[in-house]
Amino acid sequence: MGNRLIGYGSYLPEKTFTNADFEKILDTTDEWITSRTGMKVRHFAREDETVADMAAIAAQRAIEKANITADDIDLIIVASVSAELDFPSVATQIQERLGMTKNQPAFDVRAACTGYIYALHCAHAFFTAGMHQRVLVVGAEKMTRMVDWTDRSTAVLFGDGAGAMIFEHSSSSYTGIIDTVVFSDGTGFGMLHGTDDRKLSMNGPETYKKAVTLMPEAAKYITEHAGISAENIDWIIPHQANQRIIESAAARLGFPMEKIIMTVDKHANTSGASGALAFAHGMDTGIIKHGQLILYPAFGSGLTWGAALIRV
Ligand code: ACO
Repeated sequence: MGNRLIGYGSYLPEKTFTNADFEKILDTTDEWITSRTGMKVRHFAREDETVADMAAIAAQRAIEKANITADDIDLIIVASVSAELDFPSVATQIQERLGMTKNQPAFDVRAACTGYIYALHCAHAFFTAGMHQRVLVVGAEKMTRMVDWTDRSTAVLFGDGAGAMIFEHSSSSYTGIIDTVVFSDGTGFGMLHGTDDRKLSMNGPETYKKAVTLMPEAAKYITEHAGISAENIDWIIPHQANQRIIESAAARLGFPMEKIIMTVDKHANTSGASGALAFAHGMDTGIIKHGQLILYPAFGSGLTWGAALIRV
């Protein structure tokens, strides 16, 4: 059994932080950040603004776009690794904020920058099993909570935000989430992980090398698995880790950059929210058209990696 996309939404905090702002607090330059990452500006949540706050706004916007009520949703899945509270889940917190009254199941998945793909993977499996009618999938992160502001090699890379999509049961298996694939390799822990004081520790060059091989691998795997040729893909929305990683991954796949949606300059790396935020940007600006096929490859801490194919 299939599904179709009926709504999407996003939220970016009001406050922006430019490379010039980083020049004031760290030994760095706009030139270094731009040439190494493609990042120009990122959004920072307010001190009192939580992951659940951002997730709820993106979800509410998706509900309005879908022209349904919150209670029409019968499953919530949230991808996040930066929630303020270890429990309860962000998913149950937004259920309450959205005013849902039917005890719909709600849970979080934690797969870092691949989190949104893992959440789509779960949604796809539930639709395939015929278990749910309408699934809300949210990616929401407050990465600024986890940044070590004295470490110039990581502080400049991250931003905050949330993106959401709602999928509805459908008899067609050629719309909505068409296929997903996810992988993990726990031996890659040392490359990129949280520390005991909940800060981010990363070996940049090693992470870079893995990202440029594993994202294309996942992309190739899913197109073969789904029996879809590369020419039929309208857009690639890679996890927005770094412009150079995206360009290198595209070159390895033989995909022209004109087919890549890139928001790394505007949002920086928003981890589990990045794919959904870039999708919302593509829709809001009219770049992505109804009926088009989108490939999402992602890579992140774990190590985790994977890809999803979605027809809009
Ligand atoms: N400004 C100026 N200089 C800097 C900065 C900065 N912001 N950051 C690091 N440098 C310096 C380093 O100190 C080093 O100086 P040194 O040679 O005197 O020691 C020099 O620049 C080179 O450092 P590298 O780390 O080797 O720089 P590199 O070219 O590899 O770029 C970067 C660093 C951008 C982090 C790159 O490695 C990268 O993109 N890695 C992948 C990061 C990533 O994608 N992470 C997210 C994964 S997804 C997830 O799950 C969160």
